[in-house]
Amino acid sequence: MAHYFITGASSGIGKALSIALASEGHVVSAVARRIDHLKKIKGKHKNINIFRADVCDRLEINNAIEKSIKSGGNIDCAILNAGKYLPLGGLELNSEEFYGHMMVNYMGVIHSLDSIIPKFIGLQTGHIVIMGSTAGYGGLPRSAAYGPTKAALSNLAEALHIDLTPLGIKVQIISPGFVETEATAINDFKMPQIISASKAANNIIKGLKSNKFEICFPTGFVIIMKLLRILPKSIYFKVIRWITNR
Ligand SMILES: NC(=O)c1ccc[n+]([C@@H]2O[C@H](COP(=O)([O-])OP(=O)(O)OC[C@H]3O[C@@H](n4cnc5c(N)ncnc54)[C@H](OP(=O)(O)O)[C@@H]3O)[C@@H](O)[C@H]2O)c1
Repeated sequence: MAHYFITGASSGIGKALSIALASEGHVVSAVARRIDHLKKIKGKHKNINIFRADVCDRLEINNAIEKSIKSGGNIDCAILNAGKYLPLGGLELNSEEFYGHMMVNYMGVIHSLDSIIPKFIGLQTGHIVIMGSTAGYGGLPRSAAYGPTKAALSNLAEALHIDLTPLGIKVQIISPGFVETEATAINDFKMPQIISASKAANNIIKGLKSNKFEICFPTGFVIIMKLLRILPKSIYFKVIRWITNR
């Protein structure tokens, strides 16, 4: 049985993933700010240990990592999933919100990696999983605050894969389409091929066991998003405007 360290475990995909992995018998260290939510999850699953930390605070997350190792042993797999999403576009540019997205989504991952990577290098093993998004593939309407954070994570994951694979450390990125969670509940448009958080968790667990660099789902949606990405930009903009009525 393995020790999974999961950020953003108080709701949505992180919560579903924590419960699914704990149900398989693994030790799960579930991290988030809303300790009341984490306590409810722990109440039903004895092998979930909970830790309050804000990923924006390097010392808090570092402290949570140390405590999780004390109670669960060396971390086998770190799933860096905590994220923030607000639909903000070019007409709503607000540097505070844009900074907030980068702090949680990108720097939150860096703060966790800051203490996890040296430990994995010391152990000459480990598994790093970064939560990206298909929204990172290319510019989308009202995704100007969120999309670039996921594009940055995609580049980061590729760089880490190149640097860390030779040291015995596995690196993967998750790129989901739409998943029903608190984050997407604020969207006022029809989300194509949306899936439940538990279905997303099942797809992720299958992907974690594979040697694929990218765990992406649902398949039909991902194929369309990947095809859009390789179109000449003049056509890409026309198609996206047409699909989204812009
Ligand atoms: N839902 C989708 O369609 C979708 C698609 C692609 C990618 N994703 C990604 O999946 C991840 C999970 O999102 P979700 O959809 O499951 O949304 P969610 O239900 O809103 O979950 C977000 C999680 O992140 C945590 N979090 C937010 N800010 C944090 C902070 N500063 N420090 C620590 N934890 C923080 C939240 O916990 P607390 O508030 O308790 O701290 C919560 O547990 C995100 O990275 C998101 O970008 C989602």
